[in-house]
Amino acid sequence: MKRAHIGGLTPLRVRVPGDKSISHRAALLAAMASGTSRIAGFSPAGDCAATLNVLKTLGVSFSGEDGVLTVQGAGLTGLKTPQASIGCSRSGTTMRLTTGVLAGRPFESRLTGHPQLLRRPMRRIAEPLLAMGAAVELAHGDTAPITVRGGNLEGIDYEPPVASAQVKSAVLLAGLQAEGATQIVEKVVTRDHTERLLRAMGAPIGTAIGARGIETSVSAADLDPIDIEVPGDLSSASVLIAAALVTGTNSIVQDVGLNPTRCGFLRVLERMGAELELDIHAEEPEPRGDLFVRPGPLTATAVLLEEIPSLIDELPLLGVLATQAEGITVIEGAAELRAKESDRIEGLVNGLRALGADVRQLADGFVVRGPTRLGSAVCDACDDHRLAMALSVGALVAEGPVRIAGVDYVDDSFPGFERTLASFR
Ligand code: S3P
Repeated sequence: MKRAHIGGLTPLRVRVPGDKSISHRAALLAAMASGTSRIAGFSPAGDCAATLNVLKTLGVSFSGEDGVLTVQGAGLTGLKTPQASIGCSRSGTTMRLTTGVLAGRPFESRLTGHPQLLRRPMRRIAEPLLAMGAAVELAHGDTAPITVRGGNLEGIDYEPPVASAQVKSAVLLAGLQAEGATQIVEKVVTRDHTERLLRAMGAPIGTAIGARGIETSVSAADLDPIDIEVPGDLSSASVLIAAALVTGTNSIVQDVGLNPTRCGFLRVLERMGAELELDIHAEEPEPRGDLFVRPGPLTATAVLLEEIPSLIDELPLLGVLATQAEGITVIEGAAELRAKESDRIEGLVNGLRALGADVRQLADGFVVRGPTRLGSAVCDACDDHRLAMALSVGALVAEGPVRIAGVDYVDDSFPGFERTLASFR
């Protein structure tokens, strides 16, 4: 991607709230550290409020003022036995990462949440944590509530059957409390925010390319507190980039996270013909900068299987953009989309079809033939924040009124979304 140099019309400048993935991790790791951590730009998203609820239930003191979260970490032994079930709301990241933390704690906890979360697969974290020696019980086969009694963990060498940063992170957080080294081997790279934060907090963590894939290992450690500025959330920014492209608006998304493990959407957009430029302000612990978008005609491109984890949350947006691109877009290897807040393949295809798009489902993805004119529609975002935002971008180019139901949970990731999107109308 080129360095920034935007000419022409005065661009629209927009900002997004702090990165959700980094905020969850910073709060949990700060709770595990000894000393006071300062997290500026902590995400105001509902999902991150669920992680703060975890801290509260475990007796960790924190306060938030002027967008800065201050956490008084009392070390791992400072985490208190919860006096009630730990509510994780609709946040899968909260539930999976917290289970990893609690797998090493010598008390019993029960994690539960909103019915939407209680439908999502949890055996993927229970299995490796059981192998490490924690007692983890799932109430209904593969799903939460989860009861965990931790302690006496041993390091494992684990190859997750699904590419998931949440699974990797849960195992690493348990590995911080285990006897001996814990290693995760991934075939395809997933977001590395946990690794970056652990490194910044003094944990013995290493990543190398080995014969079996990307090998990340960690050993037991006491964590130093951290002072971090969370960059804007690239997944939220991606909604605005898509809005800029469909409306032909020269735009700048200011101060957004540009971690390469999250940038798959940007790389695909460039191949589709979008002109994107980056002005990087900092690299550590997380790359961040301004992102310039200059819209142009879009052409369909192939999305590689190994790119899927780097744009998993942006695939609904890509589906919307594909309706405006010349050619056929095929997304495969994305069955994980069916295990998100809703079945995002089904919901996206139904929503796009209602808008008039030429689209069909695959077992592990979808196919869109473009370009098509989108029109007046009533569609359903299935109470899924990412579908709600993607369909709202589709509505921006529809020639007629669009009513989207099931949009109540947009604040789970992007408070202020509607106001920000309105600047593209
Ligand atoms: C996340 C990882 C991804 C992503 C989710 C946030 C994270 O899930 O879809 O929105 O913060 O680790 P998986 O790791 O399950 O793919």
